[in-house]
Amino acid sequence: MLQHVFKGKNIIVGVSGGIAAYKAAELVRLLVKQEASVRVIMTAGARNFVGELTFQALSGNPVGTSVFDLAEEARIGHIGLAERADAVVVAPATANIIAKLAVGIADDLLTTVIAATRAPVCVAPAMNVHMLEDRRVEANVRRLRELGFRVIEPAEGDLACGYEGRGRLPEPVELVEEVAGALQPDDLAAKRILVTAGPTWEALDPVRYIANRSSGKMGFAIARAARRRGAEVDLVSGPTTLPVPRGVNFTRVLSAEEMRRAVLASAPRANAIIMAAAVGDFRVAKPRTTKIRRIGSALSLRLEPNPDILGELGGAHRSSVLIGFAAETGSVDERAKEKLERKGVDMIVANDVSQPGAGFDSDTNIVTIVERGAKPQRLPKKDKDEIADILLDRLVRLLDVREATRSGRRSR
Ligand code: PMT
Repeated sequence: MLQHVFKGKNIIVGVSGGIAAYKAAELVRLLVKQEASVRVIMTAGARNFVGELTFQALSGNPVGTSVFDLAEEARIGHIGLAERADAVVVAPATANIIAKLAVGIADDLLTTVIAATRAPVCVAPAMNVHMLEDRRVEANVRRLRELGFRVIEPAEGDLACGYEGRGRLPEPVELVEEVAGALQPDDLAAKRILVTAGPTWEALDPVRYIANRSSGKMGFAIARAARRRGAEVDLVSGPTTLPVPRGVNFTRVLSAEEMRRAVLASAPRANAIIMAAAVGDFRVAKPRTTKIRRIGSALSLRLEPNPDILGELGGAHRSSVLIGFAAETGSVDERAKEKLERKGVDMIVANDVSQPGAGFDSDTNIVTIVERGAKPQRLPKKDKDEIADILLDRLVRLLDVREATRSGRRSR
């Protein structure tokens, strides 16, 4: 949930006349769920696809349709709407409205409000793949980027017109992420962040494995938050059922050894590494190549330790900021401090996984942040998305300190 980003924010959802207009209804519902105040503006074309009443019911606000209707203008007031907006999102954006925005035409309520607002404007092109590839449309989209509009990349797949390819409106949850990104600072722009997530699976034989209860939610929340704040994100994850976040470089792994290889390959490019994965500490020394048969008697398997990936990355010589997690059951502060020193990292985020609402598979977590030279800070129970942003606030500070230390050394 992104209530910490959207609560009390005024969002204008502009709907133009494409078949994907039906998805805007779900976008409005999700934004309202995040406690944003949503005003919908429909173009004349959009009203051919979805009724105003749908958007009015979902947003709980009157829907704007015309700048020339006196009653509506008195009720809504396009300049007030533009001034109060914290963000505008046009979804779907047709070739027609993209062309108008690219040259500054303001001939209806939506284009007029966009001309009058100072808020960031996200534009989600959605149309037939050939229309999207039309040179004039491409040029207009390029122009929108140059003008500072936040263009949301169309998705690929089945298009409503029967074609397949680029041009789908991204799913509403993905649009919510993009709008949240417009509301948050771009304080990780030009930074590369490597995040690990999920469990590892250590094979016993071709059909069985040793795993743990990590769902990947914590690591994925961090990856999404870092991307919203402008970072280039490499996400290395063990097996999970979560959707791959849009716009991140994703590597799926199974075992701790595979995770180690993927992490070590990305680590040299990373400004920061955040290890939220629950890496298996042990693996079967000799996994069988054929299925272990039931023989009616006990079975002994020898386990050997897995490499400690975080420990391998840690130490004083590294150039990246390193953040580890610690899954504990009791004595959180002491164990986290011990891990901070032993693994040679900048910060440990400890969670007591025996607490309700904390740790594995929960949408919330209760964490204690332990940094060198500072008192451990325990946060109350919060959504994992909010915790991710709090950790990234700390990370921004650590990156600044590291940068200042480095430039101090250079100038000496
Ligand atoms: O995925 P979720 O369901 O959302 O659950 C989130 C979580 C509980 C998995 C997460 O919040 C968490 O605590 N992750 C770390 C789990 C863990 O492995 O803790 P640890 O105390 O065993 O390890 C300490 C640190 O060393 C971790 O950063 C871990 O990624 C790393 N590690 C551990 C073992 C190993 N062989 N190599 C490692 O790099």
